[in-house]
Amino acid sequence: MEFKEKYNFYLKEFERILECFCNEINCRPEILGDSLKYSLLLGGKRIRPVLTFATADLLGLERRKAVNFALAIELIHTYSLIHDDLPEMDNDDFRRGKPSNHKVFGAGNAVLAGDGLLNTAYSVLLKECKNGAEYISAAQFICDCAGIYGMIAGQSADLLHEHETSFNEATLNFIYENKTGKLLMSSVVVPSILNGGRCYSELKTFGRDLGLLFQITDDILDVEGEFRSLGKSIGKDEAEGKYTSVSLYGLDGAKLRADVLAQRCRAVLEGIDGDREFMLQLVDYVRSRKN
Ligand code: IPE
Ligand code: IPE
Ligand code: MG
Ligand code: MG
Ligand code: MG
Repeated sequence: MEFKEKYNFYLKEFERILECFCNEINCRPEILGDSLKYSLLLGGKRIRPVLTFATADLLGLERRKAVNFALAIELIHTYSLIHDDLPEMDNDDFRRGKPSNHKVFGAGNAVLAGDGLLNTAYSVLLKECKNGAEYISAAQFICDCAGIYGMIAGQSADLLHEHETSFNEATLNFIYENKTGKLLMSSVVVPSILNGGRCYSELKTFGRDLGLLFQITDDILDVEGEFRSLGKSIGKDEAEGKYTSVSLYGLDGAKLRADVLAQRCRAVLEGIDGDREFMLQLVDYVRSRKN
């Protein structure tokens, strides 16, 4: 199967699961369910669930075992985007090609939609914990990656360092590893944990580097991407005074850094037994993505 075909295969599999999940949401008042579903069903690349499914296949783990973990990660990711776009954070009016959640439902409802997605993600994870010790470990791993030693710490540092004029690599790495790297890493580490820890440290390194690469290409696209393919406003990082790889290294420097990280991701994959082709191509896709 070609790369695009396989990506779409995983994507469709995940979208079916997400649609079933959304169809079962029947909370009141109606606006709460509507706002959750608005952001969840807008689309998005679904790269984290795709990574979870592809890593499960690479390791020989049945995909169905990882399905609810992929769902929880996407719920957490979607909540992070809703909150990230709020006027008090990045103040972004567009997400996934449509008005951001708070532009449609108002800031208060957008906060609650994010809270609702996060709580529901934990409910999904807690249900999985009944299946055994490795499921508990996998759920714990996601919580740690999403929480105050992970994504929240990164988002906090991202805000703290806004409008700074001197930059250093250690601070940038802290922000990127946490705000983007850790949740993305969890999507490849979870299948390993569910599979008795096979290739655990390799996948941790791979996920961390892919997460950094992913955020750097996000920065590059903020400078030279197009709204039509990206689905979010361009030039926002500079406008908001963000601490980014482009401000630290310059545009060409950020591209070089991305090349190095992509190479590191490929090198780690070479050390894993199994059909690595899709994952290798996924690294190239992340490096050269336009959306
Ligand atoms: C955007 O994530 C936020 C970052 C971590 C850079 P994605 O680029 O994965 O967003 P969607 O899910 O495809 O919309
Ligand atoms: C977002 O980083 C990271 C999280 C949402 C956790 P960005 O602020 O760069 O993401 P975009 O560019 O708004 O998608
Ligand atoms: Mg942000
Ligand atoms: Mg943002
Ligand atoms: Mg960005």
